[in-house]
Order: sequence, then C-alpha cells, then structure tokens
Amino acid sequence: MAAHTLRMFLLIVHLPLVGGLAVDTISGDRVQFPETEQCRERGATLQHTLTGGSSQTVARLEDVWKPAAGYKDRMSPNESVVLNRTNINDQGLYGLTCGSEQEKRIHLNVITSSEKSVPEGQAAGFGFHYFTAGGLGRYRVERNTQLVFELDLSSGSTSQGSGFENRTSVAPHWRSDGDLTLTLQGVKPEDRGDYFLYILKDRKRGHLQAVRMRVSPALNTPEERNREQITCPPPATMREYNTTNIDYKMQLMETS
Ligand SMILES: *[C@@H]1O[C@H](CO)[C@@H](O)[C@H](O)[C@H]1NC(C)=O
Ligand SMILES: *[C@@H]1O[C@H](CO)[C@@H](O)[C@H](O)[C@H]1NC(C)=O
Ligand SMILES: *[C@@H]1O[C@H](CO)[C@@H](O)[C@H](O)[C@H]1NC(C)=O
Ligand SMILES: *[C@@H]1O[C@H](CO)[C@@H](O)[C@H](O)[C@H]1NC(C)=O
Repeated sequence: MAAHTLRMFLLIVHLPLVGGLAVDTISGDRVQFPETEQCRERGATLQHTLTGGSSQTVARLEDVWKPAAGYKDRMSPNESVVLNRTNINDQGLYGLTCGSEQEKRIHLNVITSSEKSVPEGQAAGFGFHYFTAGGLGRYRVERNTQLVFELDLSSGSTSQGSGFENRTSVAPHWRSDGDLTLTLQGVKPEDRGDYFLYILKDRKRGHLQAVRMRVSPALNTPEERNREQITCPPPATMREYNTTNIDYKMQLMETS
C-alpha cells in the first residue's frame, strides 16, 4: 500500500537531485531493494555508485534477479533484489535501470545499532546527547518507523506516539545539559523492536542512532532482577522513507 503510493508519487512528481527512496537497515540485517520486485524488464540492472563516481553492478534481471560477481555469497536469485548480511560498505546510492524508464535512485543507509534487553515492566533508557543550547530542530525517536516521542528543541513542546502516551520522557534539565536520554516506562513485550533516535533540522536527519531492544520476561524476585536475561533477537526490519522532505544524501554524510 505504502509502496504503491510511493510509486505513483515517483511518476507524477519531478524528482530533484536528491530525490528517490531512502532505505534504512541495521548492519547485519538483510535488505530488500524497493522497486526491484515491480521491474520485469529483462536486462534491468541495479548498480551501486562507489565513492569517486564509478559504479558496480549488484544484480541483473534475467528471468529472475541474479547477483553480480561479488554479491553471490549474500544474494540468492529471486524475484526481487534481497541482500543478506548488509555491512557498512553497502551504504550509499543505488541506481535501478528498468527498460526505458528513468533511472530510480535508492539511498541505502546502513546503521550500526546497539542492543539492549529490558525486563517487562521495567523502564528502558535510550541514551542520547545533543547540543541543545542553540535550541534548533526537533529530537525524534521512532520505533519500526512509527513515532515514539518528539521534542521541539525551540518551544520545548513534546508529542508521544500511539501506544507510548504518558510513558516517555526526557529529564527536565535537557535544555541546560543536552541530555536527551529517553526514558520509556513500563516496557511491554510489544515495545520490542528497532528504535531510531535523531535530530531533524533543516529537513535533514542528523546524529542518527539505532537501538535494537528486546523485552525479557518480567522480574519476580530480587534474585531474578540481578540475573542476566536471555532472549531471541527480533526479526529484521526494513524502513522506507519519502525523501521529498528530507535530504538523505546530506544525512548520510552527517552520520557516516
Ligand atoms: C511524500 O512527501 C510529499 C511532500 O510532503 C507528499 O506530497 C507525498 O504525498 C509524500 N508521499 C508519500 C508516499 O508519503
Ligand atoms: C539469504 O537469506 C535467505 C533467508 O535467510 C536464505 O534463504 C538465502 O539462502 C540466503 N542467500 C545467500 C546467498 O546467502
Ligand atoms: C525473495 O524475495 C522475496 C520478496 O520479493 C523475499 O520475501 C524473500 O525472502 C526472498 N528470498 C530470498 C531467498 O532472498
Ligand atoms: C495520559 O495522561 C492524561 C493525563 O493524566 C490522561 O488524561 C490520559 O488518559 C492518559 N493517556 C493514556 C493513554 O494513558
């Protein structure tokens, strides 16, 4: 549904240089390149633009998408381009050439995440520090692309995402010491997932940080409270963005 809307949008609007799709993935996760599933033109290619301007073929469409040399150990022939075990060198700009259609650009952002495991019912803290004295921009926290918390650094007004109402806060002294560590009270099993924390300023995301949070069973006794929790990691996630509003190219430079 979202992908469909986005495709229509791409067709009707002239895209500026920085236009295209941006995809966030956490390093080590697999990523599916958007639009590749819809392309059915034999000979279509997906290319990665390397630093310096040259490009390298990632996959080519025959009857199915086939990995190019250098990607065979991380990609299986498939109806869409899915790259397993992403790493930081996969980051950057990709071009999808499909028949006579205009080349589509995809910005892949590979983010290194930290992991935390929080017992159900306890509070989780997501560390974040930023220069707040200037009072510019907005501090945002998202979970699996949905808003968790937002703080307008100039007005100080906050908003909380659905399901997170009255559970999120930053310390009241954030303006003087720049400590934007987010506290999430009463962690529930459904809170597990990938949290992205960033500053949105001049339509660019900056200082992006990712935390993969797992939720372990509730603690019953003080002894259990001291014991290390062991849980399975959550499934990999992929995020797609509308880049009309946000300059990801700049953002990639800011966070790399
Ligand atoms: C992308 O953003 C533009 C500008 O805000 C908006 O008009 C368009 O509907 C958005 N597209 C999608 C798929 O959200
Ligand atoms: C990529 O990952 C998928 C799903 O785990 C797996 O089925 C496939 O064999 C992997 N391909 C390669 C080449 O590692
Ligand atoms: C093949 O692509 C589909 C989506 O088009 C994806 O769900 C599936 O995991 C992919 N399989 C492999 C082995 O990469
Ligand atoms: C949040 O707190 C306000 C004020 O105490 C209350 O009116 C509202 O119902 C609460 N919302 C939720 C979802 O708990």
